[in-house]
Amino acid sequence: MTDFCKLVNMPENDKQGLSVVTCTAPVNIAVIKYWGKRDEDLILPINSSLSVTLHQDQLKTTTTVACSRNFQQDRIWLNGKEEDINNPRLQSCLQEIRRFSRKRRNTGDSTSDASSVSHKVHICSVNNFPTAAGLASSASGYACLVYTLSQLFGVESEQLSAVARQGSGSACRSLYGGFVQWKLGTQLDGKDSLAEQVESESYWPELRVLILVVSAEQKSVGSTSGMHTSVETSQLLKYRADVVVPSRMEEMIRVIRERDFPAFGELTMKDSNQFHAICLDTYPPIFYLNNMSHRIISLVHRYNQYYGETRVAYTFDAGPNAVIYTLQDHLPEFVQVVRHFFPPEVNGEEFVKGLTVCSADLSEELKRDINMEPTPKGIRYIISTKAGPGPCVVKDPNHHLLGADGLPKKSAISH
Ligand code: DP6
Repeated sequence: MTDFCKLVNMPENDKQGLSVVTCTAPVNIAVIKYWGKRDEDLILPINSSLSVTLHQDQLKTTTTVACSRNFQQDRIWLNGKEEDINNPRLQSCLQEIRRFSRKRRNTGDSTSDASSVSHKVHICSVNNFPTAAGLASSASGYACLVYTLSQLFGVESEQLSAVARQGSGSACRSLYGGFVQWKLGTQLDGKDSLAEQVESESYWPELRVLILVVSAEQKSVGSTSGMHTSVETSQLLKYRADVVVPSRMEEMIRVIRERDFPAFGELTMKDSNQFHAICLDTYPPIFYLNNMSHRIISLVHRYNQYYGETRVAYTFDAGPNAVIYTLQDHLPEFVQVVRHFFPPEVNGEEFVKGLTVCSADLSEELKRDINMEPTPKGIRYIISTKAGPGPCVVKDPNHHLLGADGLPKKSAISH
């Protein structure tokens, strides 16, 4: 059985000695936020964090890695454009995977062919969503890179989250599906700063996710430099890491296991708010939320207040887009509420993309009680999704992003 699996997992190896593997990896959205590093080189966090992995049918990165003895140098193309392979974080990931692969080979455990680890690689990666729009593209990007390299070079999965973490902290959580925690760890070398699954994607099937895209523009302050300034200047960040997060992690795991939506939603909103409070406590302050984000926050609170319970929760990362968690039963009405208070362009592209949302009627009483002025075109579109699985290998060679010449196919450029 083991030998059969090994054979199936072998990357394709054609006559020219080109080995090719393609994989996909998901985006994750934190409900307990990671903000601040204790070691910037190894990317070790100041606090633990916890996220929900989103379904790849709606949001994913696809990466093809090819290696060949004929390649002259390592090269990378991101969303159709060649980028600098000497990016230090990319180099950390490549070096770490090659190191683990050699180690395995020396112990006789490897499944990949003996010489490939010394060959140069070509990497081609595309996202099916806008990069740097606050949708955590670095998380799915580095998770996908590391996972694909591991398939090519035969590296065991337990080691991968430590490698992906060195590409981008939040990337370590995208190596698992469902509900995932990243434990901060205590060791100086970071060996115990790893991601682990709390529950799988099928544990809470009623949980649904909406991404309210208010702006697809590039964010102003990147998370890496933003959190650096926060660590340097915010006293609130230290209090959060020492006092708040340890108990919130325990509580979050408990409420997920109990599928207690009101408690999950309240804790998610409070943690998002505390993260943005730290951004304001940073000097000079960082503003990720805009007017539209503030309106969405008010709408969610007014909606919950109308029902006297938390039916919908928001969370915001380093950008103005809102991510909404809710239960399937409340989804149609809440989407209708969003449509009413943020009327979309009439003839524009579809407003709700992704998983189908049934239509619903709104009572006059609910609209009156929410009592907000509608903001036409305030939200560009909604992506409707749910929790999903971790990285996957793409078996069909037609889906490789690199051609037989080891260069990006046209489809990977125009993506
Ligand atoms: C607000 O993982 O992008 O999304 O480790 O510097 O690459 P680096 O930062 P990154 O930070 C993500 C911050 C966040 C919260 C979170 O995802 O936990």
